[in-house]
Amino acid sequence: MTLAVTGATGHLGGLVVEHLLRRGTPADQIVALVRRPDAADGLAAKGVTVRVFDYNQPDELPSALAGVDSLLLVSGNEFGKRAQQHQAVIDAAKTAGVGRLVYTSAPGADTSINPVAPEHWATEQALAASGLAHVILRNNWYHENYLADLGAAAQTGEILTAAGQGRVASAARTELAEAAAVVLAGSQVGQTLTLTGDVAWSFDELAADFATALGRPVVARHVSAAEKSDVLAAAGLDAGVIGFILGVDAAIAAGELAGVTGDLSALLGRPTSPILETLRAVG
Ligand SMILES: NC(=O)c1ccc[n+]([C@@H]2O[C@H](COP(=O)([O-])OP(=O)(O)OC[C@H]3O[C@@H](n4cnc5c(N)ncnc54)[C@H](OP(=O)(O)O)[C@@H]3O)[C@@H](O)[C@H]2O)c1
Repeated sequence: MTLAVTGATGHLGGLVVEHLLRRGTPADQIVALVRRPDAADGLAAKGVTVRVFDYNQPDELPSALAGVDSLLLVSGNEFGKRAQQHQAVIDAAKTAGVGRLVYTSAPGADTSINPVAPEHWATEQALAASGLAHVILRNNWYHENYLADLGAAAQTGEILTAAGQGRVASAARTELAEAAAVVLAGSQVGQTLTLTGDVAWSFDELAADFATALGRPVVARHVSAAEKSDVLAAAGLDAGVIGFILGVDAAIAAGELAGVTGDLSALLGRPTSPILETLRAVG
């Protein structure tokens, strides 16, 4: 049974390979697909097969998937290009005869106002149209997404948010990676799982966790989208980034990341770790 992981030199993909190994998949049954082989020495040293795999080189993709039974497509990080890139991977998987594809998507990809959603939804639709056996993992936010805010709060004593009373059922990236490894090494098909932490926190609660991790007072400063836009513009962020950040805040305010499903803890066989644990590790 040969299992392949795209983006294997990235944060999530690298952790998926680690979890596959830890959970007993032999290294010679793992293919790490990377666009920068020079960054993959660590993977090769573990006995994992490394193959070059660049979503922007569609003609080269099928041969890299030769002999692969199950493929994890870790969504790319080039916004605006991803639907096309993921389509190229899906086409290559079909050409190469890959038996099963697992894809990392986002909660409510079909209906969400989150700016990341449209490309995920396009990919989910492409998978459905492909006829490939597949599983969709709609990952909630990583706990790690808030480490930059933690760094800022260490200086300012506040976390700036336009997400109102919206809640986020985030999870540690390594736990989402472990769940992806479990699914990749398993046999289920046709499922869409929404993977969330067991707790959905508010920004006031996050501020309290920041305070605990930093050992200093931290409050959530609730502002309007227009106020936050002004603050971010004054800090030098460009309009595209500001629009993205405010789009995420709007999705959170609308409750789109608040749902707790239990799918992640079920795959892990244990409760998920709270965000405070991730904050403490760096705080
Ligand atoms: N749920 C969340 O909170 C959250 C947060 C951030 C991102 N995401 C999504 O989840 C994905 C994985 O997260 P992450 O933290 O692992 O992000 P990451 O570290 O940026 O990993 C993205 C991976 O995609 C690879 N990649 C990008 N363009 C590619 C291309 N043209 N061809 C082949 N590979 C390409 C990168 O390759 P290199 O290693 O060569 O750069 C990297 O390995 C992200 O890409 C994004 O779609 C989710």
